Amino acid sequence: MPLSDPKISENRPVIRQLDDGAINRIAAGEVVERPASAVKELVENAVDAGARRIEIAYADGGKTLIRVTDDGCGIEAEALPLALSRHATSKIDDSDLLDIHTFGFRGEALPSLGAVGRLTITSRVGREDGASISVEGGSMKPVKPAALSAGTIVELRDLFYATPARLKFMRTDRAEAQAITDVVKRLAMAEPFVAFTLRDVTGGGEGRVSFRVEAENGDLFDALHGRLARIIGTEFAENALRIDASRDGLRLLGYAALPTYSRGSSVAQYLFVNGRPVKDKLLIGALRGAYFDFLSRDRHPAVALFIDCDPHLVDVNVHPAKSEVRFRDPGLARGLIVSALRHALAEAGHRASTTVAGATLGAMRPEPTGNGPARVYQMDRPSLGARQASYAAQAPAYQAPGYQPTSEPGFAEFSQDYSARVEPIIEEAPQGSEEMPAEPVEHLPLGAARAQVHENYIVAQTQTGMVIVDQHAAHERLVYERLKAQMSENGVAAQALLIPEIVELSEGDCARLLAVADDLSRLGLTLEPFGGGAVAVRETPAILGEVNARAMVLDILDELDDQGESLLVQARIEAILSRVACHGSVRSGRRMRADEMNALLREMEATPHSGQCNHGRPTYVELKLSDIERLFGRS
Ligand SMILES: Nc1ncnc2c1ncn2[C@@H]1O[C@H](COP(=O)(O)OP(=O)(O)OP(=O)(O)O)[C@@H](O)[C@H]1O
Ligand SMILES: [Mg+2]
Repeated sequence: MPLSDPKISENRPVIRQLDDGAINRIAAGEVVERPASAVKELVENAVDAGARRIEIAYADGGKTLIRVTDDGCGIEAEALPLALSRHATSKIDDSDLLDIHTFGFRGEALPSLGAVGRLTITSRVGREDGASISVEGGSMKPVKPAALSAGTIVELRDLFYATPARLKFMRTDRAEAQAITDVVKRLAMAEPFVAFTLRDVTGGGEGRVSFRVEAENGDLFDALHGRLARIIGTEFAENALRIDASRDGLRLLGYAALPTYSRGSSVAQYLFVNGRPVKDKLLIGALRGAYFDFLSRDRHPAVALFIDCDPHLVDVNVHPAKSEVRFRDPGLARGLIVSALRHALAEAGHRASTTVAGATLGAMRPEPTGNGPARVYQMDRPSLGARQASYAAQAPAYQAPGYQPTSEPGFAEFSQDYSARVEPIIEEAPQGSEEMPAEPVEHLPLGAARAQVHENYIVAQTQTGMVIVDQHAAHERLVYERLKAQMSENGVAAQALLIPEIVELSEGDCARLLAVADDLSRLGLTLEPFGGGAVAVRETPAILGEVNARAMVLDILDELDDQGESLLVQARIEAILSRVACHGSVRSGRRMRADEMNALLREMEATPHSGQCNHGRPTYVELKLSDIERLFGRS
């Protein structure tokens, strides 16, 4: 038998129209890829129907049963077959496919579900009689009368029974149940005025409630705050800043957590566009940009943010699951997020998160209470009066002209500038034990320094409690903020070295450094080629005083390595500045006098972002008197 080309067989393939069932299954593969996507479609339909209360039940990870019950507007008996037909929707008209105000708009979801499972819809509109319709493997049964008090129940059994190939790709019941929970939680965040109940009814009966939220009250922000507290957690809600900003027809609202409440992965990033949960690269990138300055690269901000705009400004029909969007002006969306979040973070000033104090107290408690660390409330944002007093205490400008670095860089300059305003220096006072005179600064947010312990922690008394400051972390942040301030004016002031320092490097490293020499010189670091793979450091940032130029150069090289090409110019510069700042910081182990400590506290109060160091760790924790009393069982 001659070898024949298998592609040219006797029965040549014919091109033919797929039947409707096949078309439906293909489309369904996109719309419904796993139980969670079916749940998403059904819950969205319930929300679109104006439901106030939505109950979701599933069995075996949603593989054998998904049932969504709502108290929405219902579907009329005669419209039931239509609801199951492709491209039949009540939500948009043909004239303007961009004018979308509902989750649904394609008229695809129900027919797709009907093609991949056994689907029954039971519904009732107002006082009319209830009715139900079933579809199995794409074939519809006649409408039947059914008893139901109001709203709609959609039941989907045996998902993918007709397409075993798909069944194989499903994960364990647990993983599918987890995905369902995630979908329901995201939608519940988007709809705080709607009550949601999620039940696992595997094995029959009432099942087990795995998630429940009641409808929230109040204005949108209150409702959202309450809902987020219930879903992400009260700690998130306590540490979240309210965001409300608009620009050119785009509005951004929601809550973003302080950097000290960051996470090790992006699990707590919830983004919504016109109420629709999305996982959009552009928006996630913008978040990174906004927090860039406050978090190290392995920490992720926690946010729940909603972008609302005229539906014409955003295309939601770019992804079968509608989870990606396309803004008409992507730069505008990005800019709005970055500027609104940065602004809010700056406003929050030196606030560090309550998580920190909570964890501290938890660690101090003599015996675990069993309820996890108790919640402690961080200081509120200082009153305007307090802030003004603190600003007044800051004047004149920090860096005195003609200031000469001393052999003890860092806090030396504090005493020069502040000696007139703070308590007289107690000469050679022993650290840590002596009683310091009561000072009038206790009313300020970070209070009056009382002692330094272990050469790194400042203990200060405030009106309502006490504060413990990590002096190294705090100073690092302050130096960084001052460097940035100088940078944004006319570049960081440089200090010439008497003898240039020669740093030996590899040829490659040398070339990489010199490639950014111009940027570095704006940061106060002047480098020149020295030949043979070495660079000469001629100037260093004056603010830092005496530095180990070699260590700084190597650190900058590391930063350049880490960055790759990924960051924007501004972000690159800030990252380098942040590294540079570390070199000027007071290392732990430096003893400080009372006036130096107080000066540090005052500067922290007046400096934005001083509640966390450059790596997102807190610079201080506050304990309220009432919490201290609780520790001793006094309350
Ligand atoms: N729970 C419900 N309550 C009331 N009406 C519903 C409900 N679910 C579906 N419908 C009606 O059935 C129609 C078809 O629903 P389906 O989900 O298939 O399409 P859609 O929501 O219009 O668009 P999409 O495919 O984008 O979801 C809807 O337009 C709506 O009129
Ligand atoms: Mg729909």
